[in-house]
Amino acid sequence: MEEKNSFLKEKIDLKSPNKNIVPITTSIGSDGILSVGGCSIEELVKKYDSPLYILDEITLRKSCKAYKEALEKHYPGKSLPIYASKANSSIFMSNLISSEGFGLDAVSEGELLTALQGGVPNEKIVFHGNNKSDKEIEFAVINNIKVIVDNDYDLERLEKLSNSFNRDLEIMIRFTPGIECHTHEYIRTGSFDSKFGFGIEYLSTLFARISNTKHLKLKGLHAHIGSQIFELDPHNDLGEIMVDVILEAKKFGHVINKLNVGGGLGIKYTENDDPPSIEDWVKTISNSVVKSCKKHNIDLPLLMCEPGRSIVSTAGITIYKIGAFKKIPGVRTYLSVDGGMSDNPRPITYQSNYSACLVSNPFNKDSKNKYTIAGKHCESGDVLFKEIELADCKTGDLICVFGTGAYNNSMSSNYNRIPRPAALLVCNGEAEIIQKRESPSDLLKYDVLPDRFIKQN
Ligand code: LLP
Repeated sequence: MEEKNSFLKEKIDLKSPNKNIVPITTSIGSDGILSVGGCSIEELVKKYDSPLYILDEITLRKSCKAYKEALEKHYPGKSLPIYASKANSSIFMSNLISSEGFGLDAVSEGELLTALQGGVPNEKIVFHGNNKSDKEIEFAVINNIKVIVDNDYDLERLEKLSNSFNRDLEIMIRFTPGIECHTHEYIRTGSFDSKFGFGIEYLSTLFARISNTKHLKLKGLHAHIGSQIFELDPHNDLGEIMVDVILEAKKFGHVINKLNVGGGLGIKYTENDDPPSIEDWVKTISNSVVKSCKKHNIDLPLLMCEPGRSIVSTAGITIYKIGAFKKIPGVRTYLSVDGGMSDNPRPITYQSNYSACLVSNPFNKDSKNKYTIAGKHCESGDVLFKEIELADCKTGDLICVFGTGAYNNSMSSNYNRIPRPAALLVCNGEAEIIQKRESPSDLLKYDVLPDRFIKQN
């Protein structure tokens, strides 16, 4: 019997989960069935139904520890890793990363509230965004959450707030360092043509402008150059550029003691991907900052970084149940599952590729069929896999898609009024709900029929 799906046989990298396709605790029982976190996936679906998001606690914690340990090794005593909560925001995730000593990056009132509810200390939260509302800015300032100033509009409002409270306000600014890296156009943010941050050419004017405010104290710089990046050179360059900007700010009397270098480290979605390890990424950026600071004889700033995907993606899987088949002779066979673009919009948005297997035949024994895995949404482009080799399978069988922990749940929608899946945490044979399954009636909660229409009927 021929066995495929060699990715399930690859040696697991225990130090850097982003280099694996599957969660660290993935195993195949004597019955040939896939399990994660010591839980049989078939049993989980029997109890919790499908589609199902599952997060593996051990993989999550390993990823956090990899960042913490690498920072301690390459930038001892002066770092703060911050989880980019847009990757997967929940009270649970906020709580977990906080228990690992991480701070959190939020970009909306919703993400801020989630972080606070999850127990992230206010002083470890940073607030980003290119169009913060007045309410959001005020909320952040009142709650001692650090605001990353993205544009003049932010600056004006922070100046007014600090004057009205008559107290000093520490700020960080975001700038675009003009670094190009090879990633999808939509997730590239560090180049000149970006909606985020101040252009690097504008910084002198900005520094002069901040010096003229009464209460704004510029203490930090932020830049984020993009996401799912496999190269290390852009982050090496970023470290140097940021130290140069510290020197420029100094000319205007600003003493920058915090550098936030953003996130961006890629993960392995398929066998073709080979991202650097978490340690190599941290080492590159740390060495670059240390070297530049030494060269210019300045004190090392607090080093902050904001990983999202590389913390949570590999820890996550999604389980779907197979429904309908449609064979178009000589063209392809569609296999439809009970989820799709509403729980994972990445394939239709970025043409992203994933790895998957059948839960009851993970090694794909005797695989001979190529399928197109379609979602259930009323849209032709709702396709999760264009062509995937799978063993014989039938309606009711389960499919596991790997690497879905980041930017799936957080980017999910209710398109076609399809409820969001439940999310589970698995660890040592136990499974716990971290997000309840939505029901179709939950989705009606915010609909309102104006009185006049009720009377008419
Ligand atoms: N910091 C900032 C300011 C960011 O904008 C981002 C991601 C991160 C940190 C975290 O980057 P990561 O470590 O996750 O690469 N929806 C896209 C990804 C968008 C990333 C947005 N910003 C996707 O599904 O690929």
